Amino acid sequence: MRITIVGPGALGCLLAALFSKAGHQVSLLDHQVSRAALLDRKGVCLVEGSRRQVYAVRATTKPAAIAGSEALLLCVKSADVINALAQTAPLIKEGPLLVSMQNGLRHLPILQDSAGAPWALAVTAMGATLATPGVVRFGGAGFTHFGFLKQAADERLAVLVELFNAAGMRAGISPDIEAAVWDKLLINVGVNALTAIYDCPNGKLLALPKARETMRQAVLEAAAVAEARGIKISPDPVGRTLAVCRATAGNISSMLQDVRQGRGTEVEAINGEIVRLAATFNIPAPVNERLTSLVLNISTSRSGG
Ligand code: PAF
Repeated sequence: MRITIVGPGALGCLLAALFSKAGHQVSLLDHQVSRAALLDRKGVCLVEGSRRQVYAVRATTKPAAIAGSEALLLCVKSADVINALAQTAPLIKEGPLLVSMQNGLRHLPILQDSAGAPWALAVTAMGATLATPGVVRFGGAGFTHFGFLKQAADERLAVLVELFNAAGMRAGISPDIEAAVWDKLLINVGVNALTAIYDCPNGKLLALPKARETMRQAVLEAAAVAEARGIKISPDPVGRTLAVCRATAGNISSMLQDVRQGRGTEVEAINGEIVRLAATFNIPAPVNERLTSLVLNISTSRSGG
């Protein structure tokens, strides 16, 4: 299967390195010419503990250069999905399987309206931190769930899942991907904004009683919204969030990475989306509201905007 990864951020680089390590030819589609040139020349460096290994990838900003992809893994941020779909339009026309790997919920209506190809969702618990462009630190292995939301099933998804497993990434097809999306969303609700606010790795939150309490309240607000929407989330979302903090203790969350790099964050697609949905059910969500505005303020002042 010819795989193209769209977006060489932390997750995109991790997947590219692990597929390349397993012997696959991987293409990375970027929107930044200089970064694509760098990755194409130097490859992706995977840092695991004290080990560093460089893997060759084909990186480009030109979809025509990587025509014939059978699977497109969309690894951009939720807010960038719309631009990524526009950039990949020439590849999408070829009818590949599109797999959306974002945190949050805001990109889902965009995919529903304008994916232009069969698409699936993936939810991963793998941790990855981008040190510099093309240099990614593996922050903890975790399961990746794949599935179709309302769309017809496509048999290429099973092939892709096999490739993930063969490349050492535990993965499977979930019969209820919406529940898996929400399970992950609740974890992101509890972890990401707080790591950005406290400027700390995931595991540090466990040692901060005030942060733990805020985490508990934020996750329970989100769980109430899930319940109101009829989503069958897994039991004990707070316990699972704490477990992810432990399993990815040294990881710098994607939101904190964004804040540190002066980029926009996914807070509106995560905590902000809980606030928006809670309002439609008249459910109070003051903790998620506060987390959203704190992160928006932090990222505005860090980016100088
Ligand atoms: O967004 C992230 O950083 C990750 O989803 C997670 C699981 C919180 C680990 O850092």
